[in-house]
Amino acid sequence: MTILVTGAAGFIGSHLAERLLRRGDTVIGLDNFNDYYDPARKRANERRLCAYDNFRMVEADVRDREALLRLFAAERHPGRGPPGGDGRRARRHEVPRPVRQR
Ligand SMILES: NC(=O)c1ccc[n+]([C@@H]2O[C@H](COP(=O)([O-])OP(=O)(O)OC[C@H]3O[C@@H](n4cnc5c(N)ncnc54)[C@H](O)[C@@H]3O)[C@@H](O)[C@H]2O)c1
Repeated sequence: MTILVTGAAGFIGSHLAERLLRRGDTVIGLDNFNDYYDPARKRANERRLCAYDNFRMVEADVRDREALLRLFAAERHPGRGPPGGDGRRARRHEVPRPVRQR
């Protein structure tokens, strides 16, 4: 199963994502890496998750409707990744759109 985990770089999201990865699910993590606390901690969580082949991170704001529509469309048509993309590894840090800072 492919599961979208929002807030995947955070405390709960990263632990949830890891549990799902360990049981064999494919996980797409979505996070905007905001600076509510030190984003370096979130990057460390991201690195841990990226060690799994069945994980990729999308850096975007969950409120960004267009970014989510692009993400869902790409999932429905996995062969149509971004230019130069050749599968899961290449798409791990796919950025649908720059994250707007608020
Ligand atoms: N940690 C706890 O013990 C606990 C207990 C009860 C409830 N909660 C709730 O669970 C949720 C997650 O908690 P946490 O401790 O993992 O917090 P966290 O701050 O570590 O993780 C939240 C993640 O969501 C990301 N995020 C925030 N807004 C976003 C947006 N608009 N788009 C994309 N990503 C966004 C952040 O960058 C962060 O990485 C919170 O709502 C929290 O109130 C947490």
